[in-house]
Amino acid sequence: MRVCIFNNYQEMSRIAAAIVGKCIQTKKGAVLGLATGSTPIGMYQELVRMHRSGELDFSQVITFNLDEYVGLSPLHPQSYHSFMQCHFFQHVNPPSNVHIPRGDAANLALECANYEAAMNQVGGIDIQILGIGSNGHIGFNEPGADAEGTTNVVKLSDCTIKSNARFFSSPNQVPGYAVSMGIKTILDKSKTILLLANGVDKAAAVRHMLTGEVTPAVPASLLRLHSDVTVLLDQAAAQELTERTFVSTESRSPIKFSFLKGKKDGKSTDVGRYRYYTFGNN
Ligand code: PGA
Repeated sequence: MRVCIFNNYQEMSRIAAAIVGKCIQTKKGAVLGLATGSTPIGMYQELVRMHRSGELDFSQVITFNLDEYVGLSPLHPQSYHSFMQCHFFQHVNPPSNVHIPRGDAANLALECANYEAAMNQVGGIDIQILGIGSNGHIGFNEPGADAEGTTNVVKLSDCTIKSNARFFSSPNQVPGYAVSMGIKTILDKSKTILLLANGVDKAAAVRHMLTGEVTPAVPASLLRLHSDVTVLLDQAAAQELTERTFVSTESRSPIKFSFLKGKKDGKSTDVGRYRYYTFGNN
């Protein structure tokens, strides 16, 4: 697991886009796992900029979104279909195949099974983008979620409904359920995971993800069971972390901790040039 802390949201977003862009440039038919929410908007803006400047062509790219609200049609302004159009897809050339779960499917169980099958058919996800909820959720896998769960209908926690109410006219307009890739889907089908977090509201969840018990009570902590995870944070989201925190952290891969603050090469988009500080055994 690599943890990189950036001076600010813009810098974090720029590097996230550089990592995704590199995946697209190096693999024909790259499969991206995409996330919604406020966190990745800056990354999408940067990917759009890279596309406009001729650096990125999406025509061979395949995408799978993490989740969608149950009951909202793709055209609903708060659906994640609409979010993706508004923040990303309408600004780039069309990917070869876009997958977003249909929250309005007549048979949701079948929709979930088909979604898993479609991911299998393309050989899994090359790079999965994740945000993190202030309660530690990933996708819509809320605290206490089944660690063995695949794409399924999940119930949103009160915390998530409250947090997402900012996009709706009132909290009771927020759907109570969503179709979400499960934790097992994320862990087993993603070759690489890129988790982004910014803002002080995420600081406690980030600390637990990296240093607390690995438990479904904090779904993001289960990412420590994956062998290729990069966590990009702004200063605020990292404010509860200390160097000491990392000494006793268990992880399948060593946790490499990179401070970009104040470093000249923090401005570089060459993601291979970061300097890592390693804690623990490695
Ligand atoms: P946010 O949501 O980016 O809107 O904070 C992240 C998430 O819930 O995964």
